[in-house]
Amino acid sequence: MSFKPRCTFAIISHPDAGKTTMTEKLLWFGGVVREAGMVKSKSGDYAKSDWMELEKQRGISITSSVMSFEYNDRALHLLDTPGHKDFSEDTYRTLTAVESVLMMIDSAKGVEAQTIKLMEVCRMRDTPIVTFMNKFDREAMDPFALLDNIESILKIQCVPMTWPVGNGVDFKGVYDFKTKQILSFKDSKDPFTPSYVDASDLDAPSLLEAIGPALVEKLKEELEMVATLIPEFNMDEYQAGIQTPVFFGSALKNFGVKECLDLITQIAPTPKPREAVLAPYDSNAEKITIDPSDKEFTGFIFKIQANMDPKHRDRISFMRVCSGRFERNEKIYHVRTGKEIRIATPLIFQARDRDIAEEALAGDIIGLYDTGKYQIGDTFSMGKKHIRYTGIPSFSPELFMRVTAKDPMKAKHLEKGLSQLSEEGATQLFIRRHTNEKMLGAVGALQFEVVKYRLEDEYSVEASYEPVAWAGVRWLKFPDKKSEEKFAQDYSSVIMEDKDKRLCFAVRTEWDLKLAMEKNPDVKFFKNSDYI
Ligand code: G4P
Repeated sequence: MSFKPRCTFAIISHPDAGKTTMTEKLLWFGGVVREAGMVKSKSGDYAKSDWMELEKQRGISITSSVMSFEYNDRALHLLDTPGHKDFSEDTYRTLTAVESVLMMIDSAKGVEAQTIKLMEVCRMRDTPIVTFMNKFDREAMDPFALLDNIESILKIQCVPMTWPVGNGVDFKGVYDFKTKQILSFKDSKDPFTPSYVDASDLDAPSLLEAIGPALVEKLKEELEMVATLIPEFNMDEYQAGIQTPVFFGSALKNFGVKECLDLITQIAPTPKPREAVLAPYDSNAEKITIDPSDKEFTGFIFKIQANMDPKHRDRISFMRVCSGRFERNEKIYHVRTGKEIRIATPLIFQARDRDIAEEALAGDIIGLYDTGKYQIGDTFSMGKKHIRYTGIPSFSPELFMRVTAKDPMKAKHLEKGLSQLSEEGATQLFIRRHTNEKMLGAVGALQFEVVKYRLEDEYSVEASYEPVAWAGVRWLKFPDKKSEEKFAQDYSSVIMEDKDKRLCFAVRTEWDLKLAMEKNPDVKFFKNSDYI
C-alpha cells in the first residue's frame, strides 16, 4: 500500500443493526466489492476449515477479520467485530487494535445490549466514535428520542451532522447542517450521483413541493430545537470520545453512507501513541509511550484465528503495527520468547483475499502464519527492545463450564488442548485452586462448542462440559503476600488461577462480590486482566 494516512477502525453494533450491510457498502466505496453480498455469505461461500464447518452448519456467517481499502486518500483498515452467536472475547479485543469506531444503531430500537458492552470497551481508551442511525427507510424512533437514548445510556454527547426528513414510507432524505441542502432519498445503487433540494430557505416553494407542507413545518421546528439544544461539533471532544457526530440513513439503500464515510476519512485519528511497559513486567514495571513515528518497528498480536485455510492446518495471528516500518524477511524480535524471527510471508487482507505484504507501517494490520508460537498480546520489536504493549487484556467471561476428560487417561491431552486453545484467546482456561478443576470461561456460548469440536477434531479428546452458574471473574491485586494468602484461604472455593497463574475471584453473584470487596478494602478487584 502506498503511503496514505492510516485509518484503522471497527464497526460496532448489536446484531441485526446493519453492521454487515454497512461493511458491504463501505467496501463498495473502497472499490473492493462490486456487488452487495460479497463480504459475508450466509450460504457460506468462503474458504473454510474443518472447524469452521461447525459455524457453517449453524448458519453463522464467516466474516473476514480485516478488510483494507483506500478511499479519499486514506488507507483504511476495517476490523471485524463478530457479533451474533460468534460473539467472543475477540470482539472486545479487536477494539484494542483500532483508533476509532463506527457505531451502528437500529433506529427503531435505539441502544441495545451488545452495543452497551462494546461501548464499555471503547471507553477504556476513550476511542472516538462516529454514529450511524440506520434503517431510516423503515419506521424509526423520533430523532430527538434516539439522540436522547444514546446520550443517556452510552453517556456520549450526540452532534447530528444531518437530520432526517420523515421516516419509513415518508422518508424524504436528510438535511445537511453544513450545506443546508436536503439529500433526497431514493433507492439508488449509485450514491455518487446524489440529488439535492436546496433548503437554505425553509419557506421556498421548491422545498414545499419536494417534501410537502407537513414535513416542512416539522423540519422548521426541529431545526430550531437543534439550534438551541445541541452544541456545535468539536473536533477535540470527538477525539476524546466525549462527542459523537451522528448521521441518519439507510445502509441497505446506500443512503447517507457516503457522507458518513467522507467524514470518517476527514476526522478519524491516524495511529496514536500507545502505552507499553519495560521488562521486567511486574507491578513496578516502568511505563513508556511509543509514538507511531518512532523509527523502530513495534507491534502486537490482538487476534489469533485458527485454520483459516482448509489446505493448511495453520493459524493466522493478526498483528497491529504500532510504530516504525515492518519489512518482509527482516528479522523481528519476539519479546516473550526472546527469539528473533524472520517473517517470510506476512499477509495483508482485502475482503476475502490475502496477499503478501512487502512492508507495513504504523496502523497497518498484517497476518502472520503461526504454528502455535504466538499468543494474544505478544509484542514484536526491532533491535531486541524489551517492551510489552499493555491494554490488550483478557475480559471477564460471563459463561463458565467445568471440563473433565471422559477418559481419565486423556487428562494430559485435555490440558494441552485447553491451554493451547485458550492461548488463541477465544476462551479462557482457569484452574480452580482447591479442586484443580478446569474451568472454561467465555463471553459467547458458541465458543464452548468450538472448543468441544476442536478438542475432538485436533486433540482426540472427548470431554464432559458442565455449566457453572457464575457471573464473572475478577482479577485480584494484593498489597502484600500475607494478605494474598489470607484472602486465598478465606475464599478458597472461588479462587482460580488464569493461564498466567494470576489469582482470580469467581463471582457467584454480584452480592457475593460486593461483600468480598467491602470486607477486603485493601484488595483490588479488576474486571479485566490489564491492571499492571
Ligand atoms: P448485522 O451484521 O449487524 O447483524 O446486520 P445485517 O447487516 O446482517 O442486517 C440485518 C438485517 O437488517 C438484514 O435483513 C438487512 O438487510 C437489514 N438491514 C440492514 N440495514 C438496513 C437498512 O438500512 N434498512 C432496512 N430496511 N433494512 C436494513 P435480513 O432480512 O435479516 O437479512 P437479509 O436476508 O436481508 O440478508
